[in-house]
This record gives sequence, structure tokens and C-alpha cells, in this order.
Amino acid sequence: MSLLANRTAVVTGGAQGIGFEIARQFVDAGARVVIGDLDLERATAAAEQLGGRDVARAVRCDVVRAEDWDVLLAEAVDGFGSLDVVVNNAGITRDATMRTMTEEDFDLVIGVHLKGTWQGTRKASAIMREAKSGAIVNLSSLSGKVGMIGQTNYSAAKAGIVGMTKAAAKEMAHHGVRVNAIQPGLIRSAMTEAMPQKAWDGKMAEIPMNRAGEVAEVASVALFLASDMSSYMTGTVLEVTGGRFM
Ligand SMILES: NC(=O)c1ccc[n+]([C@@H]2O[C@H](COP(=O)([O-])OP(=O)(O)OC[C@H]3O[C@@H](n4cnc5c(N)ncnc54)[C@H](O)[C@@H]3O)[C@@H](O)[C@H]2O)c1
Repeated sequence: MSLLANRTAVVTGGAQGIGFEIARQFVDAGARVVIGDLDLERATAAAEQLGGRDVARAVRCDVVRAEDWDVLLAEAVDGFGSLDVVVNNAGITRDATMRTMTEEDFDLVIGVHLKGTWQGTRKASAIMREAKSGAIVNLSSLSGKVGMIGQTNYSAAKAGIVGMTKAAAKEMAHHGVRVNAIQPGLIRSAMTEAMPQKAWDGKMAEIPMNRAGEVAEVASVALFLASDMSSYMTGTVLEVTGGRFM
């Protein structure tokens, strides 16, 4: 099934982890993909692995910077001929309790997630409204639903992405552009494997399905939201959590 045949998708933070798997599943579904990532070397290697310039390209991009978005989206529009899907996936964590969290780490996490997703959503919307179609998928987190200890910055940013997704969905619905979000729970990736064993075990105990999720299990939901399979869905938040905090 070529769910994304003849479509071009931009995936931020696609050099590794969930973003790379989203890019991989999109290419498998017939899309051409532009990976935007801070780490150009890794993003270039990822694009090569996905089949090279004809189907996948890499652009260095800091999602916080509007100018970087212009270059990234131009690679889709001018390089591949259209912009049909944008996945705002790039992310970081700087965990600490409020007692020890620095203002710098608060601003950094809010910036990458909230401003980065806003830049991508508004810049993509401006192009997609002209074409009267498009799908934007934003990566929130279960942290944004329930709040996690040590993540006042990240939980605030991920909750903010939900509000932003719904506001943008309302603004763009009549232009044919859909905006949806995903809230992953505990997914096995570089971000979570850096976690101390005790913290990992604590989270596992909260998961009814009794296991962590795999990046492929988030990517398949991103593919669903990016494709016409979800053509009557906008402003929704899909939880990919194994039932945790349902
Ligand atoms: N892994 C999980 O359990 C989990 C759970 C919930 C939500 N998420 C969210 O899913 C997304 C992907 O997470 P992951 O686990 O694959 O992370 P990861 O750390 O493996 O990959 C993140 C990627 O984003 C890139 N990046 C970071 N800052 C950037 C910036 N300013 N501009 C452009 N690129 C930047 C990194 O270079 C990296 O390639 C994130 O938004 C994360 O918050 C992850």
C-alpha cells in the first residue's frame, strides 16, 4: 500500500530515533523525505541509508530558527516539487527538579519544542494553504498529559504542543490542512536509554501492556496521521503508550 505515493514529507530530528523511523516508514510508503536536523553528519548518513538523493535528503536545521525552516522547506518544494507532510519531531530533554533546574535549561527545552513546533507549523501552513492540502504531525508526549517529576520544562512544552496543535487545526481546517499530535509514552530510543535503571523500572510498572514501545510503533501512527487514512481527523491527540495513564 503506497499511502504517501508522490508526496514529499519533512521530518525534523530525523537523523535518529523516532524521527528516523518515521522517515523510513514514509519512504517505504512511497514518499520523498527531507530530514531536518541539527546534526548534519548523522542526518546525511540517515538519508543515504534511506536510498539517497532521489528519495531522501538531509538539511542542517535548528528548528527554533525561522531562516533554517525556510531552507528546509525549500528543499521539499524546490528540490522534490511539493510539501505535503511536516512532522515536528525534533526534541531534547534537560531533566532536573525545580530546585536545581537552571533558567537556561528551562528556556532551551521550551524553545526547541514549543517555538520549534510553532515555526514548523506556521511555515508549513503558509505553503500548504496555497496547495489547499497538507498534514502536519506534532510530537507531544505523555509528559504533557500528566506532568512528570523532573520535567517541568518538558511537560510544559509538550502540553503546549497540544494547545498549539488544536489552535492551528482550527485555523487551517478550511484550508484543507490537518494538524494532529501524538503522545508517545515510554519508547525505546537514545533519549530514554540514557535514563537510570531505577527510573526505567518505575515507568515500566505503570504500563498495562508491561513493555516499552518501539520506535516503529510511533512511526506507524505518524504514517496514519500523515496519510489520507486519517482524512477526517484534525486537532486530535493520539496516545501511543501501551495503556499508561489512559
Ligand atoms: N523516546 C521517547 O520515549 C519519547 C516519548 C515521548 C515523546 N518523545 C518525543 O519524540 C521526539 C523524538 O524523540 P527521540 O526519542 O527519537 O529523540 P532522540 O534524542 O533519539 O532524537 C532527537 C533528534 O532531534 C534532533 N534535534 C534536537 N534538537 C534539535 C533542534 N533544535 N533542531 C533540529 N533537530 C534537533 C537531534 O539531533 C536528534 O537527531 C521528541 O520530540 C521527543 O520529545 C519521545
